[in-house]
Amino acid sequence: MDNTVEHLWALADEAKYQSIAARFLADDNRFDNFCFSTSNLAADFSKQNIDTRVLDALLSWAEQRKLDDKMSAMFSGKKINGTEGRAVLHTVLRAPHGKQKAVLGDVLAEDVEKTDQRMMKLANSLYAGLHQGASGKAITDVIAVGIGGSYYGPKLCHEALKPYHSQAVKVHYLANVDGSALAEKIQSLNPETTLVIVISKTFGTQETLLNAQALKKWFINSGISEAELSDHLIAVTSNTEKAQAFGVAAHHILPMWDWVGGRFSLWSAVGLPVAIAVGFENYRQLRAGAYAIDEHFQTTPFNQNIPVLMALFGIWNCSFLKYSALAVLPYDHSLRVLPGYLQQLDMESNGKQVNVFGQKVSLSTAPIVFGQEGSNGQHAFMQLMHQSDTIVPIDFIVPLKSHSAYDAHHQVLVANCFAQGEALMKGKPLAQAEAELVEEGKSPAQVKALAAHKVMPGNNPSTTIVFDQLTPQVLGSLLALYEHKIFVQGVMWELNSFDQWGVELGKKLGSTVLDLMAGNTNEKLSSSSIGLIDLFKSAHEQ
Ligand code: F6P
Repeated sequence: MDNTVEHLWALADEAKYQSIAARFLADDNRFDNFCFSTSNLAADFSKQNIDTRVLDALLSWAEQRKLDDKMSAMFSGKKINGTEGRAVLHTVLRAPHGKQKAVLGDVLAEDVEKTDQRMMKLANSLYAGLHQGASGKAITDVIAVGIGGSYYGPKLCHEALKPYHSQAVKVHYLANVDGSALAEKIQSLNPETTLVIVISKTFGTQETLLNAQALKKWFINSGISEAELSDHLIAVTSNTEKAQAFGVAAHHILPMWDWVGGRFSLWSAVGLPVAIAVGFENYRQLRAGAYAIDEHFQTTPFNQNIPVLMALFGIWNCSFLKYSALAVLPYDHSLRVLPGYLQQLDMESNGKQVNVFGQKVSLSTAPIVFGQEGSNGQHAFMQLMHQSDTIVPIDFIVPLKSHSAYDAHHQVLVANCFAQGEALMKGKPLAQAEAELVEEGKSPAQVKALAAHKVMPGNNPSTTIVFDQLTPQVLGSLLALYEHKIFVQGVMWELNSFDQWGVELGKKLGSTVLDLMAGNTNEKLSSSSIGLIDLFKSAHEQ
């Protein structure tokens, strides 16, 4: 183990007994020293269990890992996704055209530019209610079918950018293979005025294909002919052959490139449903916000670099202080999809234990990411955070201004967010609990009986990300911030953050179980799975 990591372990042994509250008492300027901002947002790290010694050790570890070289390798298109032999260039999709040419070369940059033009034309005609279906009627509803990275990014933006939505077209999202999700979606839709966008990089994902097949049948059963179908079907995929075989016309297929990972693909034509809902200009603003963070990330010294600091403090918490979870708590109803989006972005990127050299990583890696919109979480899992012996680091995310007219509501929401961070950091020692009970007039016996139940250990670290108001640009910055945080953590853990071999086994066994249910194979599974399959079969024989 090199001496920087050894030094970090020594600092971690110390920090475990260090009170964050005491760190504030020791430094009146702690907030100013550990809050950093960019054009679109600010991140307050002062409630993290850190000091300048920890920060310096983490930064020297980043230097040792040659983080700056790894960043240049990604942005310049080196094939850093080693197991798939691919570059990782989602960032180039939001860069100015000149940069795209420099990284991709003229031909590919032209392809990207042409795709943007096609996206813009489609999006703006649908946004304005001018796109017609086979019968000549204007399309009023769009269903985006996709799952994982072909769903989460667009869905998150859809919910987050409601104030920017078109009045002429409604965009719906269908991800789960559960037929009730499909039934719910189409029950109030008219096939004649509905357009389906099948989003699938591989055009081979079982859930997406089953949903797409069912929607195709829904169109045909409504009287739309095979020939007319192409007016109601668009595909976003890297597998044009499969898309055309499915029945999507070539001019309705938008490309996905293999140098854009699924969970990083919002910036590609995967973002089409977002551009339809909010208009291409607002979608362009989303990309611009992400580009602003790309620039911040590449030009800011690491000791003021927000994605770098988020990454390093995140590793400090999960690998060194051994806090194995991360709660993402957006105090903003419109960001309620963010925890789910970050579960895929974080846990599918760094939920690994083998490094790029094929060796077991000695540190624990990605945290268990969970969360939900605040203030709901306060009535769900915050009790555990306040009084269990499990410390759960938190990312609070909160706009300083709301789009709603309910200012009093927004002020209460923000006050709750700030209060939770303070309460979880400060806690309530026994002496304070006893004094409060005495203050309430409780008898000594009652104080004795109750005080221990009122104690809160505190020392729960958190980062609070604030921004003025949730606009397309700010949203783009927020998402790019997390993308780069996860990239940096992958570099520090020496992981390949851009493959996802772990999802293959479940997919394969899914087909095996289907074959067993149909009696098409006698593959040996555990008696549990065989017993469960028998229960399913008998439930369907009755
Ligand atoms: O979750 C596994 C995964 O492969 C993701 O990486 C991807 O975003 C998702 O499935 C959907 O894949 P596709 O876009 O190929 O349908």
